[in-house]
Amino acid sequence: MTSTETMAAGVGLDDAALQAKAKDHLWMHFARQSVMEDGSGVPIIVRGEGHRVWDIQGKEYIDGLAGLFTVNAGHGRKRLADAAARQAEQLAYFPIWSYAHPAAIELADRLASYAPGDLNRVFFTTGGGEAVETAFKLAKYYWKLRGKPTKHKVISRSIAYHGTTQGALALTGIPEMKAMFEPLTPGGFRVPNTNFYRAPEHGDDLEAFGQWAADRIAEMIEFEGPDTVAAVFLEPVQNAGGCFPPPPGYFQRVREICDEYDVLLVSDEVICAFGRIGQWFACDEYGYEPDMITCAKAMTSGYSPLGACIVSEKVYEPFKHGEASFPHGYTFGGHPVSTAVAMENLDIFEEEKLNERVRENSPLFRAELETLLDLPIVGDVRGAGYFFGIELVKDKATKETFNDEESERLLRGFLSRALFEAGLYCRADDRGDPVIQLSPPLTIGPTEFAQIREILHDVLTRAWAQL
Ligand SMILES: Cc1ncc(COP(=O)(O)O)c(C=O)c1O
Repeated sequence: MTSTETMAAGVGLDDAALQAKAKDHLWMHFARQSVMEDGSGVPIIVRGEGHRVWDIQGKEYIDGLAGLFTVNAGHGRKRLADAAARQAEQLAYFPIWSYAHPAAIELADRLASYAPGDLNRVFFTTGGGEAVETAFKLAKYYWKLRGKPTKHKVISRSIAYHGTTQGALALTGIPEMKAMFEPLTPGGFRVPNTNFYRAPEHGDDLEAFGQWAADRIAEMIEFEGPDTVAAVFLEPVQNAGGCFPPPPGYFQRVREICDEYDVLLVSDEVICAFGRIGQWFACDEYGYEPDMITCAKAMTSGYSPLGACIVSEKVYEPFKHGEASFPHGYTFGGHPVSTAVAMENLDIFEEEKLNERVRENSPLFRAELETLLDLPIVGDVRGAGYFFGIELVKDKATKETFNDEESERLLRGFLSRALFEAGLYCRADDRGDPVIQLSPPLTIGPTEFAQIREILHDVLTRAWAQL
């Protein structure tokens, strides 16, 4: 075997040597480097097949998070690797800066056919944060070209995550991720999210709560001045905080507000697109038409990096004729290999009817997880499609949450490790109240739902006992 084949198979890899190299040189993302120093090291994953991955010691795990909300078609798809190799042999790289290549053209055409209404124009990036950054810059520029140069502010929701570049971070509603980088791009304003479990108003009426939450957007636009607001960025189902689906009627009211105040609506579908909610684009599930969609992750199921900002004819119109161009782009945006892989990935989705599969199985997944509500530590189970959050509480009756020290002990000290040791890779998160997040490959079904539930039941029972 070549060294690449050996690595791919996870055979003969020297855990200690890799741990030493990682400790000396690898800077992990969003992680404490101290785990490298204190001897516990970093879990090294070497292989994936379907919904399962294996670590360097050969131990098997259920991939309960599809990598990072990404590997929707599952691991180990040879045909995706072959598609990448074919494209790399034929044309490994060419930019889409004033030029084009067939894979980018075909994929743009295909995404436009999946997208709702007249969202027909596709601007490729290499990932989600860049897609958000693109939409943010485009919104500002659009209003300048429309003769409204003061419309530059952007509204998003509390605890929402939209990426790490300084513009996307200005949209991100998690102060602990931003404080150290202030001042960020100015003009980001926050409104309440749709966490019904902790609804500050209308806690007994989901629809009324949704109208209330949507109306906070109108209020913020009024506070800031409609002439200063360019766009609202919302995820169909907000991830950070633990899966907040929109109440019925929420997005219809948001659309009305955006139309009333001449504000663009951006649907950030970096997680929710490509089957996560059982549709190509989740805005279809909730019956609204945004002005732009940002997407990435599962467009290639993670086999190659790619993102996109899909734009309506209205937003594209000022660029259609004359001298206006959008002075923005990325060397690897719309990369030939990534776009070819995306085409093959979407073929898999169609052939295996993955969207339909999610719609059909989602109620079973939910029902399985809802049995966990019998545990004293489980306060809420919420989500949609194959995308669920389980909120953990100290007191179910009062919904009292954990303090910082307890949360640290519970999530970092116990849960993350215990779940992993029990064979389930998922996320225990405290960007908001503590939640366990599940977002597995779309290929799983009832057998795996039950396995996931068993592991969670056991680990959460032990978590409660050691509190
Ligand atoms: C809703 C949302 N927007 C943007 C991003 C940023 O995407 P990326 O990490 O590809 O830059 C993420 C990442 O998880 C996301 O969930």
